[in-house]
Amino acid sequence: MLNTIGVIGLGVMGSNIALNMANNGEKVAVYNYTRDLTDKLTEKLNGQTVTPYYEIDAFVQSLERPRKIFLMVTAGAAIDSVIHSLLPHLEQGDIIMDGGNSHYKDTERRYDELKEKGLGYLGIGISGGEVGALTGPSIMPGGDRDVYEKAAPILTKIAAQVDGNPCCVYIGPKGAGHFVKMVHNGIEYADMQLIAEAYTFLREKLQLSVEEIADIFEEWNAGELQSYLIEITAEILRKKDEKTGQPLIDVILDKAGQKGTGKWTSIQAIDHGIPTSIITESLFARYISALKEERMTAQSLLTGPEQEPSLLDKQIWVELVRQALYMGKICAYAQGFNQYKMTSELFDWKLPLKDIALIFRGGCIIRAQFLNVISEAYEEQDRLANLLIAPYFAEKMKDYQNGLRKVVCEGIVSGVAFPCLSSSLTYYDSYRTGRSNAHLLQAQRDYFGAHTYERTDAEGFFHTNW
Ligand code: 6PG
Repeated sequence: MLNTIGVIGLGVMGSNIALNMANNGEKVAVYNYTRDLTDKLTEKLNGQTVTPYYEIDAFVQSLERPRKIFLMVTAGAAIDSVIHSLLPHLEQGDIIMDGGNSHYKDTERRYDELKEKGLGYLGIGISGGEVGALTGPSIMPGGDRDVYEKAAPILTKIAAQVDGNPCCVYIGPKGAGHFVKMVHNGIEYADMQLIAEAYTFLREKLQLSVEEIADIFEEWNAGELQSYLIEITAEILRKKDEKTGQPLIDVILDKAGQKGTGKWTSIQAIDHGIPTSIITESLFARYISALKEERMTAQSLLTGPEQEPSLLDKQIWVELVRQALYMGKICAYAQGFNQYKMTSELFDWKLPLKDIALIFRGGCIIRAQFLNVISEAYEEQDRLANLLIAPYFAEKMKDYQNGLRKVVCEGIVSGVAFPCLSSSLTYYDSYRTGRSNAHLLQAQRDYFGAHTYERTDAEGFFHTNW
């Protein structure tokens, strides 16, 4: 009997995806460029229908037609090289799927090249880390809809399921799936940084212990802030270092890494005039964190404000921080979803915003209870200009801005940096300002460069001899 799907790339993610497919009844052929990872996977097998192949030709020939080949290979040149090695063995109608974090522009190039050869290509965003890959990730497939339909029975089966629905939906043409995954990661960066800032406030301004903060996060996770990232933060804070007995968090070096997807999100937004300041601040926060040695020097050279004893009432302020975090989160997701909307209009992708919110509810890193409300907001108005003006969120922010303003003010006055919380507030205040100060910018541009300006009371472009 032929295999129903093939998986190439047997690192942790690829092995787990293959096992997930097999656990869901698929007959899976697996292949890896080097033999060691294939052997590692076969040693783990426990009766699953996973068959290893050590020659690409035999791997391809073992698949039923149209062949479905799922790549879980490091994004970049490795994908092109695998595709290149597959090409001589494939036939018209066969389908290659890339489940890695590829740049959506690379996916579009590959899609075009393979389409010309009569092959189907799907760029599939997968979120959920190694556990999600095994037990059910969130899946964002992009490419031709008819090609997706052929792979859909497998993809929807292996996806996380929420309320009986798979966290997998057709996203849109060409690179749309990888684009949606990329911005998911941008939102992830912002969400993580916002949580880190709330933690900083609780630790440094309210002087709470790591254990007390873990309790607070656990409590928050039982309410409207419920999300995977809040949940794991509580668990992280409870973990003790085996070597020192200290909270592990205290011995982890404060230098954040990144693999590029958050950076791509900001670059794409900047290239297309999309305001994603919170997401970009979260990226810059990682960059500044990486300047550890410089920061240590600056700490001894640069002064902050005089430190006064903290007189903040803990109970009151824990609630204000909760409000600030929730509002920051709303603003960050509003920016990410706005990036979806504006890009969708630009490329005529017709991204299903309501469904994107729904498939983010399970499996993925940014899964959160409030994605239900986001989905409902788009259900009510599919052309909603911005999540901030959806009635539910507008009402929330009427109440919660007090918390965000107070927390940001405390940071400013006491010299503690809250880049994403303050950027969230700035975004909120800028977005609700009907007449901004950009008229002065236009006047300046016209003054020094004759760049012209528009008037509030007449159509057309004007120039003044200043
Ligand atoms: C996911 C994650 C996953 C990964 C990213 C982020 O959705 O499963 O986003 O894709 O963790 O690579 O990593 P960086 O923080 O290293 O950019």
